[in-house]
Amino acid sequence: MKDRKSTRTRKQVAEITRPIGDSLARPIIPAREVVLRPAGYPLEVNASLGTPALRIRDEKLFTAYCVDQWQGIKVKCHDYLFDQLLLPDFAFEVVEVTPPEAHIVSDTTVRLIQAKEFKPSRGRKILFDDVIGHDSAKIKCLIIKKYMEDPRIFAEWAPRKVLFYGSPGTGKTMMAKALAWETQVEFYYVKATALIGQHVGAGADKVHKLFEDATSKRPCIVFIDEIDSIGLDRSFQSVRGDVTEVVNSLISQLDLIEEKDRIVVIAATNTREMLDTALRSRFEEEIEFPNPTYEERLKILEKYAATLPLPLTADLKAIAKWTEGFSGRDLRERVLKGALHYALSHDLPEIDDSAFTKITTTDSPKDRRYYI
Ligand SMILES: Nc1ncnc2c1ncn2[C@@H]1O[C@H](COP(=O)(O)OP(=O)(O)OP(=O)(O)O)[C@@H](O)[C@H]1O
Ligand SMILES: [Mg+2]
Repeated sequence: MKDRKSTRTRKQVAEITRPIGDSLARPIIPAREVVLRPAGYPLEVNASLGTPALRIRDEKLFTAYCVDQWQGIKVKCHDYLFDQLLLPDFAFEVVEVTPPEAHIVSDTTVRLIQAKEFKPSRGRKILFDDVIGHDSAKIKCLIIKKYMEDPRIFAEWAPRKVLFYGSPGTGKTMMAKALAWETQVEFYYVKATALIGQHVGAGADKVHKLFEDATSKRPCIVFIDEIDSIGLDRSFQSVRGDVTEVVNSLISQLDLIEEKDRIVVIAATNTREMLDTALRSRFEEEIEFPNPTYEERLKILEKYAATLPLPLTADLKAIAKWTEGFSGRDLRERVLKGALHYALSHDLPEIDDSAFTKITTTDSPKDRRYYI
């Protein structure tokens, strides 16, 4: 068998072999728990040497195995530990340490989680200025941004859980993405339906994994879109099937983040009234995303008209007037895109008022929505 110390990094060896005087100055902080995630080999030597799928047969034995080879090493989040026994040089990423920077000692519990199921992603660049209107949501987002930058000023009063609600297409997802870009922190975009598992326990497990992963990537924002698809009040759940375990698991994770800093959960729904009351009560604030006002509709039309591939000469003020009740998405996808396609299909050199005729020639403003 290899000399175990020979494969430790120089930093790790220095930590273990630190002189006694030094260790008195900086006492050993015992880790209560260390969570690892398989990270694979540092080099791919040939195709046959893929990353093995690891499964723990006995958790106690696994802890003993880890403590045996890494005892005395000081670890913090995102450090790597290299296996020296069964899988020499296979790396494990440290995803959580309690307390945050501590030494592996004989009492440390070591847990293994599987490779990432939920990956942070931010998508196309969007900033607060791109979102027209929704001032109260922007203020809340600015508070969250401040919290991500300097959690200390908030003490125990950090923003943690926010519910965005409003009609489809009013900009809820867009605002959350803008927040992710503005803060530059990890952003988990999760459609609530992705949390539903195939068998009993799988859904709860997915929720657990999501929050475990997000915790390890702090500072981070978890955005759970369309939360009504799982969080319907119990009296409505027969519509969706039994998702009680997912909701319960979500509720306990939402409670747990009270103790973790710089992790914020934003959920979005069209129907807050139908949400499970226990779930709904976890959110510290409910922010409405109303349909845009006349001025906002005009700004949205102007913003997207500027990117159309044909010049637009139609009267946008008039269009903003008769589109009361339209969402931002309606204005972009139905009104402007509809007019562009009309102009292109009629070989018009520009998008003039006639391109909107099909959209405007309806009886009442209410019916217009369905006519388009
Ligand atoms: N306030 C707004 N400012 C600018 N663009 C907007 C606004 N609202 C909606 N849009 C446009 O509509 C698109 C759809 O918006 P978004 O997906 O954010 O709506 P949503 O509220 O999340 O809808 P849903 O409830 O259906 O998920 C945006 O990507 C954007 O192009
Ligand atoms: Mg959305």
